[in-house]
Amino acid sequence: MVPLGGLEIGQQKLSEKEKMVSFAKNKSSMRIDIISVMPELLHSPFEHSIMKRAQDKGLLEVVVHNLRDYGLGKHKQVDDYQFGGGAGMVMMCEPLANCIDDLIKERTYDEIIFLTPDGERYRQSIANQLSLKDNLLFICGHYKGIDERIREQYVTREISIGDYVLSGGELAAAVVVDSIGRLLPGVLGDEQSALTDSFQDDLLAPPVYTRPASFRGQDVPEILLSGNTPKIEDWRYEQALARTQARRPDLLEG
Ligand code: ADE
Repeated sequence: MVPLGGLEIGQQKLSEKEKMVSFAKNKSSMRIDIISVMPELLHSPFEHSIMKRAQDKGLLEVVVHNLRDYGLGKHKQVDDYQFGGGAGMVMMCEPLANCIDDLIKERTYDEIIFLTPDGERYRQSIANQLSLKDNLLFICGHYKGIDERIREQYVTREISIGDYVLSGGELAAAVVVDSIGRLLPGVLGDEQSALTDSFQDDLLAPPVYTRPASFRGQDVPEILLSGNTPKIEDWRYEQALARTQARRPDLLEG
């Protein structure tokens, strides 16, 4: 676990995990706006399962804005050729700026996030930080990306979900919003359970089992049937450590 500087209660310095639990208790609902030229791509991910529950319970509001509504001329143009030549279109300044201006008139955003392969690599600690915010605005890129002046003027953070190129930022936005939404207090049944996910302690999760105790000759590890909670916790920690060492030693180096 990496203790972060910052919040202190009394003499005690809180770890990132403890900070989340402490903040979470006071957190009200979160609002997320997403600007996209393909809003249909974003409907399904937020209409099912945990993301739906989060919205039904009023803990999360996700609003998708169709950039085409801000497009120029009778063709509602949102992209144009790049200056200097080269393949691929660039998302124009005016539609994006007008859309963002309308949104920032309504509320103050803690972060305006552009999803792009050249952004900071997304990881659990960023999800944790973002889950503590009130209002987030995501911009999904398409084609060759967005005009640099929008990045300079409005964007406060740039995120990549991995070293590969998607055809647009929508799937990346869905990944990021899902990972934030499940951290909001009250969204998961057991408020603490997101904190035992892989990566929360810079460790991968240990193996898990359910019934039957014996399946095609493979038995559940004896310790898990023992009822000895401290011993089970020790076993889980050892397993998590061994799995991290074997699969992601880079996580242990930090
Ligand atoms: N848009 C295209 N590829 C992306 C990626 N890897 N991460 C975030 N946004 C993207």
